[in-house]
Amino acid sequence: MRTKLVIFGITGDLSTRKLLPALSQIMKTGDFDDLSVIGVSRHDFDLAALLPTESEQLLGRFSQITMNVSDAAEYHRLKDVIALGEDEQLLVYLSVPPAASAQIVELLGQAGINTSNTKLLLEKPFGIDLSSAETMIGHVARYYDESQVYRIDHYLAKEMTQNIVAFRGGNALFSYVWNNQAIEKIEVVALESIGIEGRTDFYEPTGALRDVLQGHLMQLLAITLMDVPHEFDWSGVTELRAQALKAIAPADPTTAVRAQYSTYRDEVGNPESMTETFAAVRLESHDEQWKGVPLILATGKAMDKKATEVRIHFKKSHEAQTNCLIFRIQPHESVEIEVFTKKPGYERELQTQTLSFMYPENTVLPDAYEQVIVDAIRSRKSVFAGSEEVLRSWEILQPVQQAWAASDVIRHYDAGSDLYSLIG
Ligand code: BG6
Repeated sequence: MRTKLVIFGITGDLSTRKLLPALSQIMKTGDFDDLSVIGVSRHDFDLAALLPTESEQLLGRFSQITMNVSDAAEYHRLKDVIALGEDEQLLVYLSVPPAASAQIVELLGQAGINTSNTKLLLEKPFGIDLSSAETMIGHVARYYDESQVYRIDHYLAKEMTQNIVAFRGGNALFSYVWNNQAIEKIEVVALESIGIEGRTDFYEPTGALRDVLQGHLMQLLAITLMDVPHEFDWSGVTELRAQALKAIAPADPTTAVRAQYSTYRDEVGNPESMTETFAAVRLESHDEQWKGVPLILATGKAMDKKATEVRIHFKKSHEAQTNCLIFRIQPHESVEIEVFTKKPGYERELQTQTLSFMYPENTVLPDAYEQVIVDAIRSRKSVFAGSEEVLRSWEILQPVQQAWAASDVIRHYDAGSDLYSLIG
């Protein structure tokens, strides 16, 4: 089916860093010759200057429209430019801040750019708390059915995240130990060695809990806990993740960690800033399969390393034993399990070794944004966040948000700290 992709915010940071390179890449495959792109901006721009080198295929399928996105009348002109045929589909990608996004959705809807062959691609944040997320979802629902809404959480589209689903769905072996009988605790962590990189305006009102923990980490947790039916089908994954999140109890603020790297206040020029650059929560599921297993989520900037991992710690059968299954989402994408083996030699000593799966060195993994575009074109929703998941995640974290809003206690840590110095 011919696809027309309209991008709002085409000259913005996300678009130039992620979206356009991804589009350029998928166009090179030759599998998307029926895709054309319309960039929307307030002023004329030079697309070639925004694109990576060697993007001829994309340049050849690109057109632009300049418009005032706050003016309702302009959307009728946009509709004429799009001229969507009944046998075509339209993807409208909003790569703009939330306030602008709400207005654009309203004006698109009023202009009738919401027919059933239209899909709406939205970027996070999906609200800043439960009530704003409800408002945002309700507002979008006035014009677009949930089946038309594609909420982007690029962590869901990462190759190794999808590999957790494949690993669980494809290897019955692990289904027998995927429960509280065998698992001691689960850690989901996303650490970054960089700080906020000058994104003060975005980060100050946001913080680590909203920026990474509420979306990216909750999604990784949901994928780890969700039920994987025997007849596994990827199309059911959104619903399975939502079910897993429904079983998680509201977070206990007394076990949450709120911390800030020591140079942060100087960096943002706010000596009283209470914005956390590190956040950790300890959750519990009341699902029979998971009762009693601590679920630890942690994320931080200015840490000792970049590491996004899901770690499954299995119960020990004797003191020295430390079986741990690690999904390394990035960097060094791999799956590893630490096992005991006999140390070579005359003695009966044990040693820890690692069994691992890694991609061959020259494997090129698609960028998450390539996957997002391809899956939106093909109507595959498993890498997008459903409204129920978004709402449930906020609901789980609400007690922590409320406690932090009412408190002026925050820990400080030196840049380069390691995770366990903060969560003990
Ligand atoms: C974004 C956050 O969603 O994810 C950033 O807004 C964070 O603060 C980024 O740095 C991390 O993404 P990745 O893919 O580099 O792990």
